[in-house]
Amino acid sequence: AAIVEHVFHIKNVLVKPLCKEQMIPAVNGSLPGPTINVREGDTLVVNVINNSTYNITIHWHGVFQLKSSWMDGVNMITQCPIQPSNNFTYRFDITGQEGTLLWHAHVLNLRATLHGALIIRPRSRRPYPFPKPYKEVPLIFGQWWNMDVGLLNIRPAPLSDAYLINGLAGDSYSCSKKRMFKLKVVQGKTYLLRIINAALNSHLFFKIANHNVTVVALDAVYTTPYVSDVMILTPGQTVDALLTADQPSGLYYMAISPYTSAHGQPFPAQVTRGLIIYEDTVKSSSSVMPLMPELNDISTAHRFSSNITALVGGPHWTPVPRHVDEKMFITVGFGLEPCPLGTKCPGYLGQLYAGSLNNRSFMYPESTSLQEAYFYNITGIYTDDFPDQPPLKFDYTDFVMRTESDYKMMFPEKRTSVKTLKFNSTVEIVVQNTGIVTTESHPMHLHGFNFYVLGYGFGNYDPIRHARMLNLLNPQMHNTVGVPPGGWVVLRFIANNPGAWMFHCHMDAHLQYGIGMAFIVQNGETSLLSPPSNLPQCTRDPTIYDSPTA
Ligand code: C2O
Repeated sequence: AAIVEHVFHIKNVLVKPLCKEQMIPAVNGSLPGPTINVREGDTLVVNVINNSTYNITIHWHGVFQLKSSWMDGVNMITQCPIQPSNNFTYRFDITGQEGTLLWHAHVLNLRATLHGALIIRPRSRRPYPFPKPYKEVPLIFGQWWNMDVGLLNIRPAPLSDAYLINGLAGDSYSCSKKRMFKLKVVQGKTYLLRIINAALNSHLFFKIANHNVTVVALDAVYTTPYVSDVMILTPGQTVDALLTADQPSGLYYMAISPYTSAHGQPFPAQVTRGLIIYEDTVKSSSSVMPLMPELNDISTAHRFSSNITALVGGPHWTPVPRHVDEKMFITVGFGLEPCPLGTKCPGYLGQLYAGSLNNRSFMYPESTSLQEAYFYNITGIYTDDFPDQPPLKFDYTDFVMRTESDYKMMFPEKRTSVKTLKFNSTVEIVVQNTGIVTTESHPMHLHGFNFYVLGYGFGNYDPIRHARMLNLLNPQMHNTVGVPPGGWVVLRFIANNPGAWMFHCHMDAHLQYGIGMAFIVQNGETSLLSPPSNLPQCTRDPTIYDSPTA
């Protein structure tokens, strides 16, 4: 195993993916930022030097952080941010996982421009559990706004201006016609596409004209090979897929387009394209376009997500634990927050949107990170009272407030609530999408652990009928899963890593609205170590950011 070192210089730089120059915070001057390549078992060391005008943390999305929870990089959960003109070195081992993940800023909306690929290959001399590809190609999907990312933090979230493939908007937007992602391929060769949805707020369909792909991993967990002509990734999800150049020579477009099930909401229906060019293509060849699914094609989205199964017996596969210690039912959805007096709010019924889990709208701590508060026993930072609740039923066709619980659901309480878990306990969570205010898929992401997705469905979860239908044999493991609109998922994981771990919606806007909570896993065979001595301190208001033009 090796020590892999990187330096991330974060500075405000001018970029111009569309027609207008925009100042953005970027790592080493590029959008997306640098790709990190490691092997399973390596130690990754990244020195983050913050010369931007923003407070920054960097999160290693999907990395287990075994015994290194101080390195999870979540603003005000595991650390105070790295302030301008400061630096912090992240250092952790990467064990027990391989595939494609991503790193991204975990402060406000800065993930919009601070993200990149984190590629974990098998230890040396260990093969992939699929034929060795001729080449590997990272494909990072981003979302672009012609505005200061620091100002994106408003409700409702402003519509984006473009999607990007590896930082490029391509030929479907003006001013970027020549800046399109192009992949040259050799006839008959197979490529491993390492696909990352780093978009802030959009699920994305991905398709390549006339080509099928074979999915071999999802969220850096190997899958049974799954052949498809289309895929969908929620924000935060990653897919490893094999693409064989098996078509006649020519030009073939690839494209990404958004998916949303939210009704009556304006949505940027932009399609962003890239191009696959066969090596011996002649100049005059015509190009083929993929036909993208509709914006609200729930069935295509659901089919892809729910059909993929784990590679049983493959590297790092472990059977599903049968005994459950802790059962939780968590509702996810929107409610409202009364519009401050004297202002006008553009949200539903003239109120502000408020997101919640079990009627709690998550508030980040403000003076001390949650994990430090836990470790040092500092009171008043959070409350260990994340509510338990029995399975509830919703009328998805006609939500009318009738009961007290309906009212609660409509106006969630703002709190920093955590749920404490015993070390090594097996936790099962039914996440029920309430579909109140708007029916929308919520990509729920768990820090520090992968979870088995034992079942998906639409409508109300039925604890008797559905519990008998769960897949305990070969369910795929994820770190992020889309909870179907007006539907449910059942997750199971083993809480074997002490520390504070967030569970939140990976639509960045939804996290800002409060769709989040945190677990605190208690000490057991392993304990939460003392924080590194140079862990950033909160000496300035962590909620403040400066405009990059300042
Ligand atoms: Cu990828 Cu808490 O995030």
